[in-house]
Amino acid sequence: MKQRLIRAVILLMMMAISLMGIQPAMAANSGDGAKLFTVHCAGCHANGGNIIRRGKTLKLKALAKNHRDTQEAIAQLITQGKNPMPAYNDRLTVPEIEAVAAYVLEQAEMGWK
Ligand code: HEC
Repeated sequence: MKQRLIRAVILLMMMAISLMGIQPAMAANSGDGAKLFTVHCAGCHANGGNIIRRGKTLKLKALAKNHRDTQEAIAQLITQGKNPMPAYNDRLTVPEIEAVAAYVLEQAEMGWK
C-alpha cells in the first residue's frame, strides 16, 4: 500500500519534470535577431559600427553614453527611427524588433566579436 503511494508520487514528479521541459519557446531569441540584423541593420552598422554617425555606434561605450544601453531603449529607437536611421515599425513585428534589440545588446556586451 505504502509502496504504491510512493510509486504514484514518483510518477507525478516525473510528469511534472517532463512538463517543465516543454515550456513554450520564448517568442524572440537572438538567433532570429542575428539574421534580422544582417538583413536590416548591417548596411549601416556592420560589426556594430555606424557608417553615418561615427559617435553613434552599437558598441557598449557609445550605447551607454547615448542612453541606449537597454533593450527597451534600443527597441524604441528601432521602432521610431531617428534621422537618418529609418523607423522599422512598418517592416518588423514587435517580437522581431525585440529580437534584434536583444541581439544588439548581447553583441555590444560581447564586444561585437
Ligand atoms: C540608413 C542607415 C541605418 C540603418 C539601416 C540602421 N541604422 Fe541604426 N543608426 C543610424 C544612424 C545614423 C544612427 C544615429 C542616430 C542619431 O542621430 O541618434 C543610428 C543609431 C542607432 C543606435 C543608437 C546608437 C548610439 O550609440 O546611440 C542603435 C542601437 C541602432 N542604430 C540600431 C539599429 C538597428 C538594430 C538597425 C536595424 C533594425 C539599424 N540601426 C538600422 C543609421 C542606420
